Amino acid sequence: MSIEHVAPYLDGGIKKVQGWCIPQLWNVIQPLHEYQENAGITGPIAEIGVFHGKFFIGLALTKKGQGKHTAFDVFDLQHFNLDGAGKGNLEAFTANLRQFDLPEDETEIRRVDSMALTRRDIAEIRAQRGAFSMFSVDGCHMVEHTINDFRIAMELTQPGGIIYVDDYLNPDWPGVQEGLARLYLNDAPRFVPIAYTCNKLFTCHISYARDMFDHLRETVRASFPNCQVKVVKRFGYDCLNVKPDYTGPSVRL
Ligand SMILES: C[S@@+](CC[C@H](N)C(=O)[O-])C[C@H]1O[C@@H](n2cnc3c(N)ncnc32)[C@H](O)[C@@H]1O
Repeated sequence: MSIEHVAPYLDGGIKKVQGWCIPQLWNVIQPLHEYQENAGITGPIAEIGVFHGKFFIGLALTKKGQGKHTAFDVFDLQHFNLDGAGKGNLEAFTANLRQFDLPEDETEIRRVDSMALTRRDIAEIRAQRGAFSMFSVDGCHMVEHTINDFRIAMELTQPGGIIYVDDYLNPDWPGVQEGLARLYLNDAPRFVPIAYTCNKLFTCHISYARDMFDHLRETVRASFPNCQVKVVKRFGYDCLNVKPDYTGPSVRL
């Protein structure tokens, strides 16, 4: 499948869905998706914290036809949403899936507190779905949840996959940055930073990091010349900071 599936959503539909993400994220997602396509890396996507599906739908359309996606959210179990960052709503989520041509049987919906997911749950998901090609962490923003959810994402994402962490530098949710700092400073996770843009940290498997980073550095600037791009070190890894042209295109067709 190709990026054409997601372009109409990014050009208009995304505005109809409540939530927190912008189309210019695809200035970096598109090159990574194309890298995966060229390398034969395929698979469904997953997100912890889908809310009404704004980002989930964009990822699912990017990987349409690549398997059954998985959506994790507490939905009505809001007493497990310890920081109250957006109240998930199952009806709104499923209505939005239908609206954007994602039949419900293409997504497994798990109404769950991510902190309660067990090793057995994770093994079961891996056995049923394989490993995901892209995984978004956007549930509760506390330190404990960030560490827990990122570890789950690493278990469930294939080596050629990408893990996104939302609100990494958002001053209102310092738990996300602190959670990742604790992970990277006290341990050596196998998914490492390669890019930061539009409020999300992009990480990939260390075995792919050099190649994916070089690919991003070359293609983001070439495809979206009005982006501002800067290479920084995050936890010792080369990371591309991308400030998009917020009035520019989301994808290159
Ligand atoms: C900031 S919103 C997600 C925004 C969404 N990704 C988007 O694209 O707009 C956070 C979501 O995480 C969910 N959530 C909060 N705590 C959770 C937990 N412990 N386990 C699973 N989901 C949780 C909330 O119900 C809410 O829908």
